[in-house]
Amino acid sequence: MVSPATDGIPALEIKGLYAAYGQEPVLENISLWLPRGQWTAIVGPNGGGKSSLLSVVVGSLSPLRGELRILGQPSLAQRQAGCIAYMAQQERMEWDFPISVRDTVMTGRFGLMRQDPLWRRLLPRHWANPEHRLAVEEALEAVDMTELSARPIGALSGGQKKRVMLARALAQRAPILLLDEPLAGIDPPSEALIMAALQRQRRAGTTIIMVTHDLAGARRHADQVLLINRTVVGMGAPEEMLKDSMLARLAVGATRMPAGEAPVAA
Ligand SMILES: Nc1ncnc2c1ncn2[C@@H]1O[C@H](COP(=O)(O)OP(=O)(O)O)[C@@H](O)[C@H]1O
Ligand SMILES: [Mg+2]
Repeated sequence: MVSPATDGIPALEIKGLYAAYGQEPVLENISLWLPRGQWTAIVGPNGGGKSSLLSVVVGSLSPLRGELRILGQPSLAQRQAGCIAYMAQQERMEWDFPISVRDTVMTGRFGLMRQDPLWRRLLPRHWANPEHRLAVEEALEAVDMTELSARPIGALSGGQKKRVMLARALAQRAPILLLDEPLAGIDPPSEALIMAALQRQRRAGTTIIMVTHDLAGARRHADQVLLINRTVVGMGAPEEMLKDSMLARLAVGATRMPAGEAPVAA
């Protein structure tokens, strides 16, 4: 676990970033700096590019141009080193596939297992590096899924599945957690469990970057709020960013920004 940020190195630094799907621009002139060891809520309208921004950070959407650094280093190396754990917005998993909750969480360790020495990777699983099993048990415990860990994941409720996907991200023990709407459409007990697990992570020094529509939760838990609608509309303290005037500006988005601030055409 990382210690609280004291060295001024940001979790994420993005400069002049543009991204598109084919001819369709989706992110324009994004520049931002997210501090380490803090909780950032990303808020914006549907289709505003929030998930696309996370896709750029995890490397599944290539930017047209711009610079992205993770913990002060080039992004590719940092991803390969396991610095970013990611929980996608919609799990495109085949839930009927007969994989247990515990094994699903173990997939969060697969990237790190590649760093184990070859002899260790060839051993039967119960002789594998005990750190992987420990991280999985701890992550299951963090979202209160230990008791259900032998169940097939397809047998769980929507909220329980989200808790398992969060456990999968936690098992990676990455210094940065990227979460795309982890609370969308879940039952109140699961929401409370997820928020409690995230608060513990935040206290332990993990950087949390979370896309959310839960403005009350963002006001209560986030250290800062990033407003995104194709470009950065604002970044600052929750009480400042979530004022009605800022939310109105967010709804209008990039198209009506003052000429001086408007992104240049790509
Ligand atoms: N894989 C994709 N291919 C083409 N267009 C996409 C794809 N994913 C998202 N988009 C489009 O990009 C825009 C931003 O989407 P997204 O990043 O998902 O926004 P948000 O997460 O803020 O709702 C939307 O217009 C969406 O339709
Ligand atoms: Mg989205």
